[in-house]
Amino acid sequence: MPTYIIIGTSGIGGTLARHLAATGNGLHLISRNAERLPALATELGASHAVADVMQEGALEAAIAAAGPSIDGLAYCVGSINLKPLGRVSDAEALADFQLNALGAFRAVKAALPALKGSVQPTASVLLFSTVAVRQGFTSHASIAMAKGAVEGLTRTLAAELAPKIRVNAIAPSLTRTPLAASLTASEQTANAIAALHPLQRLGEPEDVAGLAALLLSPQAGWITGQVIGVDGGRSSLRGRG
Ligand SMILES: NC(=O)c1ccc[n+]([C@@H]2O[C@H](COP(=O)([O-])OP(=O)(O)OC[C@H]3O[C@@H](n4cnc5c(N)ncnc54)[C@H](OP(=O)(O)O)[C@@H]3O)[C@@H](O)[C@H]2O)c1
Repeated sequence: MPTYIIIGTSGIGGTLARHLAATGNGLHLISRNAERLPALATELGASHAVADVMQEGALEAAIAAAGPSIDGLAYCVGSINLKPLGRVSDAEALADFQLNALGAFRAVKAALPALKGSVQPTASVLLFSTVAVRQGFTSHASIAMAKGAVEGLTRTLAAELAPKIRVNAIAPSLTRTPLAASLTASEQTANAIAALHPLQRLGEPEDVAGLAALLLSPQAGWITGQVIGVDGGRSSLRGRG
């Protein structure tokens, strides 16, 4: 059975881990929280490594602990730092870039020898963008800039690492996870944002994790270089009215 590394295991990454474990896959989980991560790893029969991806060398060591061969990697780490341009400091923009884009770049780089060691016909990398790259929103300068880099990285690595390694990204709209709690805690705000989606609701982690599991799996063996919206239609459709 394939073995996957999942980095970032609370919201979408945690649901993805449960999907993959339920279908008998091996898992190596990496996240920052030293209390929740071991409990999740024990529950799913996974190995794990606690690491803060912003710390020099920590991500690379955590990935190396997965062993010499893996079949896929999902980088599910991210941030939502929404402010008008004038209030975003250089340091905040740089931190968003480091966490979302450079972290993904470093993760794939560190995992490359193990991905090349996969005995599957193709190994797979899954990254995360946001609806706010394809569709412009106010107050999203920092995160849209960082995730735009992730989309460029996705297509570049898909070309560079073919035919052995497939690379895709998912671009969600607002999804009910701990990351989005500041936007979904108020039912009034959540309902107002939900109404902006043609499908008239916010995303749930399961909406995203199902596609994530498919893209990592051998069933998606002829899909690479794609950025796929899981966004209730928000990036591409005009709603009623
Ligand atoms: N939720 C949304 O509305 C939404 C929308 C668009 C895009 N996305 C993207 O979707 C992906 C998954 O997001 P999510 O909503 O599932 O987020 P989440 O629930 O907050 O999970 C993010 C994970 O990243 C980990 N993490 C954050 N900073 C870290 C660091 N410095 N070092 C190591 N781990 C770190 C967290 O670890 P701990 O829990 O261990 O602290 C957590 O497991 C992200 O790339 C996000 O940008 C989400």
